[in-house]
Amino acid sequence: MSAKQRKKKPAKTPVKEEKKIAAKLIPIYIMGKRYEVPEGLTIMKAMEYAGYKFIRGCGCRGGTCGACGTVYRKPGDYKLQVALACQKTVEPDMYMAQIPFFPANRARYEFAGLTAAPEEVFKLYPELFRCVACNACTKACPQGIEVMDAISALKQGNIAEAARLSFDCIQCGLCTSRCFGELAQYHMFQLARRIYGARIIPRAEHLAEMVRTINEGKYDQILEELKQVKEDELKKLYQEREAEPMAAGEDWKPKDTRYL
Ligand code: SF4
Ligand code: SF4
Ligand code: FES
Repeated sequence: MSAKQRKKKPAKTPVKEEKKIAAKLIPIYIMGKRYEVPEGLTIMKAMEYAGYKFIRGCGCRGGTCGACGTVYRKPGDYKLQVALACQKTVEPDMYMAQIPFFPANRARYEFAGLTAAPEEVFKLYPELFRCVACNACTKACPQGIEVMDAISALKQGNIAEAARLSFDCIQCGLCTSRCFGELAQYHMFQLARRIYGARIIPRAEHLAEMVRTINEGKYDQILEELKQVKEDELKKLYQEREAEPMAAGEDWKPKDTRYL
């Protein structure tokens, strides 16, 4: 056998057969038209798969901006349901439509002239008393807010409680879309939180003190010095700064107290 013949042929690298897992397609109806989309997608992704392009009704894609309200109904169920399109996954034979904007009543007011009196809310939103305590708003809320309880708190004049209960509201308007009494709960809650923040909650004295210190120029010199530092040096200063330990107590102070 010649040297040429003895030369081994390079072993063929086994090519693994690519496993293609076909996604199961399920039928859904977007604004009355039938599409087949892979199961497991969110409504938003399913709509994009079907060829829709969002220029409204989509924002964060993470359940926090409230832009993607959707109304849907499942076969054999008389009940209309609502959800956020970026959070809810599709189910077979769902009928759905988007609610990118809900034309709810939003009162106009000059906030500077408002006090913390409950009557301010009553005057701006007299329809508050149309609530019939059906609780449909609470069932619709994707944030799990006790919407009806927050409305009851407003009716009782408890603005602080309404602000507390509605703290996680993302202004999606889904509660309003289901309200028997035609209330725009989320606009009322926004007003409550504004009044609470500006007129009810005690002022943070240490913050006011810090603002005063800044205005008096205590940090002007160090800021000027930092502005002259080159980028690399600035990064190094930042990385090597003394950071507050995770478990630091209220009385923790850095070693360098010049700027406290
Ligand atoms: S309270 Fe209404 S507007 Fe706010 S997150 Fe819940 S459903 Fe959406
Ligand atoms: S859906 Fe409307 S009427 Fe029913 S409890 Fe909520 S605010 Fe009241
Ligand atoms: S896109 Fe923001 S909540 Fe769905």
